[in-house]
Amino acid sequence: MSNDPKEPLLLDHDYDGIQELDNNLPRWWVWLFYITIIFAAAYLIYYHVTCTGDLSAAEYAKEMKAGEQIKAAAMGKFEASIPTLLPSTDATVLDSGRQTYAKFCAPCHRADGGGLVGPNLTDDYWIHGSAFADNVKVIWDGVPAKGMITWKTVLKPDEIYSVASYIYTLRGAKLATPGKPPENQAPAKAAGPSQFE
Ligand code: HEC
Repeated sequence: MSNDPKEPLLLDHDYDGIQELDNNLPRWWVWLFYITIIFAAAYLIYYHVTCTGDLSAAEYAKEMKAGEQIKAAAMGKFEASIPTLLPSTDATVLDSGRQTYAKFCAPCHRADGGGLVGPNLTDDYWIHGSAFADNVKVIWDGVPAKGMITWKTVLKPDEIYSVASYIYTLRGAKLATPGKPPENQAPAKAAGPSQFE
């Protein structure tokens, strides 16, 4: 590569009629090339020699930890709010609750809430209290010993709220097929709002 304008531009070899010009590389290209070399050296020192920067695996672990903290905070906030929750009457919330119910709850509580393995959700005989908040708490924590799943590890807080709001609308429903008989227990005294009081 010569910069001397007096030197011939055409190189003296010739293969099958193909000739080669001894052009200079464009300045911008040459500078870009030097910059990549400097960048590579800086990268090596930053990530692998002084280990100042986090590699992808460490970055991932950090992000996941931050995400877990956000999730734990959101779950703690929801859990603390359970005693004061009121059922939603919003059509969108109820509709998403209906879908969650059909997918996760119907196999045990029957599509219409009449009860199968799980108790009847349409009568006013509650094992764990008749208030809306009592329902939310049971869904949130579950009753693993009795076969009711701990839903907080499966569903998001707003999904639990919407499915609880949906089953609240099933209370007192007239069922085509009789539901499961009450769990032989007088209606529980509500600790919060219940439509049966
Ligand atoms: C694997 C079967 C099963 C599934 C799935 C299930 N449940 Fe249950 N559920 C039960 C059983 C069993 C009980 C009774 C627990 C007890 O005896 O303490 C129960 C209890 C309940 C109660 C309390 C009833 C009361 O009398 O106090 C509510 C509310 C409830 N489930 C809602 C739901 C919702 C909402 C879902 C879906 C997200 C769901 N369940 C999914 C089996 C299930």
